[in-house]
Amino acid sequence: MTEKPVLWITRKLSANTEARAARDYDVILNPEDRVFSRDEILEMSSRVDAILPCHSEIFDAETVARLDPRVKIIANHSVGVDHCDLDALKGRGIVVTNTPDVLSKATAEIALLLMLAAARRAGEGDRLVRAGQWDSWSPSFMLGTQMTDKRLGIVGMGRVGQAFAKLVEGFDMEIHYYNRRRLPPEQERGAIYHETVDDLLPHCDFVSLHCPATPETENLMNAERLALLPDGAILVNTARGKLVDEDALIAALKSGKLAAAGLDVFKTEPGGNPAFAELDNIFMLPHIGSATRETRDAMGFRALDNLDAFFAGEEPRDRVA
Ligand code: DGY
Repeated sequence: MTEKPVLWITRKLSANTEARAARDYDVILNPEDRVFSRDEILEMSSRVDAILPCHSEIFDAETVARLDPRVKIIANHSVGVDHCDLDALKGRGIVVTNTPDVLSKATAEIALLLMLAAARRAGEGDRLVRAGQWDSWSPSFMLGTQMTDKRLGIVGMGRVGQAFAKLVEGFDMEIHYYNRRRLPPEQERGAIYHETVDDLLPHCDFVSLHCPATPETENLMNAERLALLPDGAILVNTARGKLVDEDALIAALKSGKLAAAGLDVFKTEPGGNPAFAELDNIFMLPHIGSATRETRDAMGFRALDNLDAFFAGEEPRDRVA
């Protein structure tokens, strides 16, 4: 019998994923779900043929340069791959895959939740009731912004952006979008295309970010771009914290340029930006866009599909490097 490849699953994944992995691989698990240091990752790399990490494990140029040559593939349990230096990994001949598609609907749901919560002041309302401070009601009490019939701008019309556009159909919004390439009409579903983010922003009562974090999109929403939004606009981010200049966002929320923001992702994770907690008009979640039981199974299985293909000598379906 040939030996099974040794697979290191860096974090505690769904029971179904770990059970399936154990069938086909000699698996090293992390039942305590501890986050490993760079030195530990490097030490472990000499013992494994494949790594199945999450976005919490950082494969930057320095780490990649020192990975043991035994590692042949990094099969990410994430769609985002900004924690991986793809050029460095390619340079080392290490195959990299991600898990697209399977988390689009779950992430779109969280974008909708953030948009509604930010627009309708759900965080403030919840805090008030919990604190026992809800002692009056008036017609001008806790007024928010209505989503229905407004204009929504989507930055990045990939899988998640399209899933989000589909999800909000019932709100009768006018949808505008920016994408590197214009979508064919059947995928556009009536959304209005803009060739640049700068062209898009003046048309957005709400703007939702769905593009990957790359050197080009770092601080995409900076002070200049936030200024292009109509007064009282609402920003939603379920993609990556790196896309937003957080100081500029705080200034826009304080000045009233933006009515509110809904964020699931932050420049510093875990933890977020403590300055955000001072603002009432920001609704935050701890990076849970894809955190449903169904989606975690699907992500785990997709990562294993990629590994299976690789070890069968085939091209993994979601190869990104
Ligand atoms: C992703 O898949 O990129 C999500 O942010 C979770 O890692």
